[in-house]
Amino acid sequence: MGDVIDGKAFAAGLRATVGGQVAALTAAGGHRPGLAVVLVGADPASQVYVRHKVEATREAGMESFRTDLPAETSEADLLALIARLNADDAVDGILVQLPLPPQIDADKVLLAIDPAKDVDGFHPINVGRLNAGMPALAPCTPTGCMMLLKDRLGDLSGLRALVLGRSNIVGKPMAALLLQANCTVTIAHSRTRDLAEECRRADILVAAVGKPRMVRGGWIKPGATVIDVGVNRIPTDDGKTRLVGDVAFDEAVQVAGAITPVPGGVGPMTIAVLLHNTLVASCRRHGVDLPAA
Ligand code: GUN
Repeated sequence: MGDVIDGKAFAAGLRATVGGQVAALTAAGGHRPGLAVVLVGADPASQVYVRHKVEATREAGMESFRTDLPAETSEADLLALIARLNADDAVDGILVQLPLPPQIDADKVLLAIDPAKDVDGFHPINVGRLNAGMPALAPCTPTGCMMLLKDRLGDLSGLRALVLGRSNIVGKPMAALLLQANCTVTIAHSRTRDLAEECRRADILVAAVGKPRMVRGGWIKPGATVIDVGVNRIPTDDGKTRLVGDVAFDEAVQVAGAITPVPGGVGPMTIAVLLHNTLVASCRRHGVDLPAA
């Protein structure tokens, strides 16, 4: 049996560390970091995510600024709000919750966010900086996956990594981060031939495709480290629902060296890294060193 990686505990530790760093900054008379979260519309899942982000921000001792806009908000009105947040010195990080309603071009919105406040790491400037190996704000979920991998494996140099999925939010930045850590990286996707065989070669397998239990136990190299980014709600026999990942956990845990569960694996890391990114953005903007962890 492989080890089950406790992302919830790791994330709690990271949040406590960030909270301590914020306390150190403010005790020394420094600026209190602030995160602005914008939600357009009332998608139930997005509302839950945004509420958790606001609560975690306050718990870490940071300022939280939340704006809820109606689903029919125009692109111009959202861009005007972003311009105000860009200009507001109390705001160090800006996060616009995705997805956005169809009348709003998400690319235009992401381009409008000041790259120095882009705690999601979605602005093309930060995407470019990440891929060029320059200091960048990197997307939260893949950054959290890297923290779990490094905690488990130490140096990742020379390991074969397979990233399943090529989204801008997870797959592509995940591959960039693994490459930066000297892995031999393959990106697989819906058109990949013989996916199972590609997976079986991987020392590190990161699944981020949004297909419930797609990766089977027989696809996994014995001893591999498996990071499951999937969050899929599926119906159960008793008429309720449950969350499952992109990996068939019960099968994979028999073969893997270590694996993240769903829930309780990668999920909690995303918010913890968001707080970390906000602290980093705040320190950079104010020209102060990040306090020791
Ligand atoms: N929606 C789903 N994941 C994310 C994320 O990481 N950031 C934002 N802004 N929206 C999301």
